Amino acid sequence: MDAISRTELPGLPLIHRGKVRDLYAIDAEHLLLVATDRLSAFDVVLPDPIPGKGIILTQLSLFWFQLLAGVTRHHVVASEIEDMPKAVRAHAEILRGRSLVVRRAEVFPAECIARGYLLGSGWKDYQRTGRVCGIPLPPGLRKNHRFAPPLFTPSTKAKVGHDENISMDALRAMVGESAANSLASLTLEVFTRAAEHAESRGVIICDTKLEWGRQGEQIILVDEVLTPDSSRFWRAEEARAALPEGDPPSYDKQVVRDWLEHQPWNKTAPGPRLPPEIVQVARNRYREIYERIAGRPVPHLSD
Ligand SMILES: Nc1ncnc2c1ncn2[C@@H]1O[C@H](COP(=O)(O)OP(=O)(O)O)[C@@H](O)[C@H]1O
Ligand SMILES: [Mg+2]
Repeated sequence: MDAISRTELPGLPLIHRGKVRDLYAIDAEHLLLVATDRLSAFDVVLPDPIPGKGIILTQLSLFWFQLLAGVTRHHVVASEIEDMPKAVRAHAEILRGRSLVVRRAEVFPAECIARGYLLGSGWKDYQRTGRVCGIPLPPGLRKNHRFAPPLFTPSTKAKVGHDENISMDALRAMVGESAANSLASLTLEVFTRAAEHAESRGVIICDTKLEWGRQGEQIILVDEVLTPDSSRFWRAEEARAALPEGDPPSYDKQVVRDWLEHQPWNKTAPGPRLPPEIVQVARNRYREIYERIAGRPVPHLSD
């Protein structure tokens, strides 16, 4: 199947190109969120897309939005091309499966991260300071320690460069006391419900990054949800075999990061070209994660 790296949709005004998504205005209240096949790693968009990745990410987010309907409101208005406005249907071939009509929200300027395990930047923080995002933790924890309950560790959304972890107090100062408290409790509820579902399908969600927006008086879940781009996963059977002493292999886009770590590259744009076999491995990984979690083939994805 052909990869879609970048969309141009005559008739629809482009308002933003993110690392992975192209956003178009539909009307004052609605946006079209198009997930392309671009792959970013270490905050750099790589020159080679992963064919079908945008479809897999969109379908996985959609699966979660539906599963989480009892936990939170979300931004999705339409997910099937036939239910979208005419200006969108005109580009059905490009957009099918990878696009959502969403409610336009005022996105909170924070990444809302839930951590079920001590790894990644949390583990680095802990080793240096004994804390994660300002939360003091007992001494002597191992890497991959399980947090029960999970931790809420917000970070800034850097326009350029890397996001920075911030404390709950800093979040309160940014968005106000009441919104900060809501973001923390909603994020942890989403994580807990999703982790429970994933575990029943043989996937452990280690941590995830959510984005929330304000729409009138309401706080709604926006952007992508619980995908391999926004989350770290383990295969449950590999986690059981490795923990507590060991380090389960990651089951997300880490396959690409691992390959990149062995290249002569200083992690600034442009990134290296990916060999076709790495593209294939990454594509299979994204697809397998969807199939495990949702328990069915990826809708709209052709071979
Ligand atoms: N419902 C929404 N209303 C307004 N903006 C949104 C909504 N959902 C997602 N966004 C924004 O759309 C962009 C998605 O593009 P993406 O490629 O993921 O960007 P990034 O490079 O910031 O990760 C993000 O800036 C996100 O905050
Ligand atoms: Mg994003």
